[in-house]
Amino acid sequence: MCGIVGYVGRRTAGPLLVEGLRKLEYRGYDSYGVATLHRSVSVLKKSGRIPPQADLGKGLKGKIGIGHTRWATHGEPTDRNAHPHTDCTGRIAVVHNGIIENYAKLREELEGRGHRFLSDTDTEVIAHLVEEAFQPGKLQEAVEEALRRLEGSYAILVIAQDEPGIVAARKSSPLVLGIGDGETLAASDMTPLLEYTERVIFLEDGDVATLREGGITICCNGTAVQRPVEQVTWCLDDVKKGGFPHFMLKEIHEQPQVFYETVRSVDAREMAAQMRASPWVTLIGCGTSYHAGLVAKYLLEAHAGIPVRVEMGSEFKYFAPPVRGLVVAITQSGETADTLMALQKARAHNCQTAAVTNVVGSSVTRMADHVLYTRAGPEIGVAATKSFTAQLAVFLQLASRLSDGALDGAIATAHLAMGDALRTELDGAVSLCTGAKDIFFVGRGPFYPVALEGALKMKEISYIHAEGYPAGELKHGPFALLTPETPVVAIALPGPTYGAMISNIKEMKARQAPVIGIGDAGDTELADVVDVFLPLPDGPEAVHILTATVILQRLAYHTADALSRDIDRPRNLAKSVTVE
Ligand code: M6R
Repeated sequence: MCGIVGYVGRRTAGPLLVEGLRKLEYRGYDSYGVATLHRSVSVLKKSGRIPPQADLGKGLKGKIGIGHTRWATHGEPTDRNAHPHTDCTGRIAVVHNGIIENYAKLREELEGRGHRFLSDTDTEVIAHLVEEAFQPGKLQEAVEEALRRLEGSYAILVIAQDEPGIVAARKSSPLVLGIGDGETLAASDMTPLLEYTERVIFLEDGDVATLREGGITICCNGTAVQRPVEQVTWCLDDVKKGGFPHFMLKEIHEQPQVFYETVRSVDAREMAAQMRASPWVTLIGCGTSYHAGLVAKYLLEAHAGIPVRVEMGSEFKYFAPPVRGLVVAITQSGETADTLMALQKARAHNCQTAAVTNVVGSSVTRMADHVLYTRAGPEIGVAATKSFTAQLAVFLQLASRLSDGALDGAIATAHLAMGDALRTELDGAVSLCTGAKDIFFVGRGPFYPVALEGALKMKEISYIHAEGYPAGELKHGPFALLTPETPVVAIALPGPTYGAMISNIKEMKARQAPVIGIGDAGDTELADVVDVFLPLPDGPEAVHILTATVILQRLAYHTADALSRDIDRPRNLAKSVTVE
């Protein structure tokens, strides 16, 4: 969702801000804009994607500026609705990520006092409120005054003519500040900052900061506060493609390393003890993170005998049944609004809370009682890949710890098998998928959520309708959709569900559906019954969960690539969904 970047220092801000916005593109956006301050405020803003030309932003003078990529919520993605937004005088400019819930009332009030609005956005009210409160030399005070009127969520940056810095504020939307050498920066996440500094401050809800060339001051509720300066461990290379044509492919290939590093670094002892002690364990997440929760449920129940409920963040917050025990939020970004609201609800019910996340300093880390980190590094592709297998690494460790090391052997070899799964030949399967309008993905037990994840990957980047189903459920309705043009991707691995999977596949073949079978390398029975056989390296079930995932991610990637889709930035999607 919307990306924010700000700069104060000795360099020309315009081009630097544009480059910063390019690094935030992965979050998803439909317009962009930059405002810089020289003698007055200059604004460049447009609908659509940032054009590739390198000198964009060069015409904007000044060493102070703010930039924004907008993912439309209020008002269409047009030039005039793009941020930054200015006040009536054009002396104040604002960028904003979040939603101002009471904007309609505020706008009416402001228009009543003679303010002229130039956009349909909720954000513009902020510029006019700051305008009303503004006194020269007192931009922070004016912003504080404006914020008192706002309901909703925001991360904002504000500049004003003759003011020597940027004022930044956050409430329920992420904002990171960077401290460089004679320069300071602000951004929605760390990616635009890595080129300039390794020292960052994560603002807390309610903080209002002033960034100047020489440093940053922060206030909360009118009182000066100190926030810890943290050292970033991600490096610039982590946010480059490293020779791969897409971030998604690079991130798929990073998985063996990410898995290895996550299992090595995660200390699951405390959360394992909490799970053991808690009568109820609830896992919450959205999208891919929800699927990780479903796999985790299987692992924890099958190996540790711990009953687990898994809920979507977007549903849980409206949940009527009792909310008790330990509630664990699973979220790569740590900023997904639905997941955060669900966790807030758990806190309101006095539950113990924990988080599994990839982003140090993200909102979820400040909300949960206990945090386990995945070591996936920055995930730029909108489609989650390495963050999913890293989440599974955490839950495999937890399940193993809770079952006297039952999964330790699988954990020790999984990264090698994942490396092998990166080389499996997929051409036959890809050509079946590229010609399809609909694809089913089926599995049983833990391979059902793996199938759900495979279908999610396929639909979001290839735009082919794909549905994940428990294999046994197909004949309770979806069989009506099977035709020779509807491929089914079936995961059939050794174990208690194997026989039932083979029967299901034969039933699909009887309806003439082409079947892509994912199975154990030596499985000739499966290979004989399916149209295309994709062998997984030999291994235990826990490893097959990971290798089947890698194969399905690659199937989606190569299908989307064959269809020339915009793989890293699929239409209508945002990497970090920070609104409800
Ligand atoms: O950052 P989160 O893990 O909380 O994000 C949740 C979902 O928005 C995310 O997993 C989404 O489904 C993926 N980008 C899909 O690939």
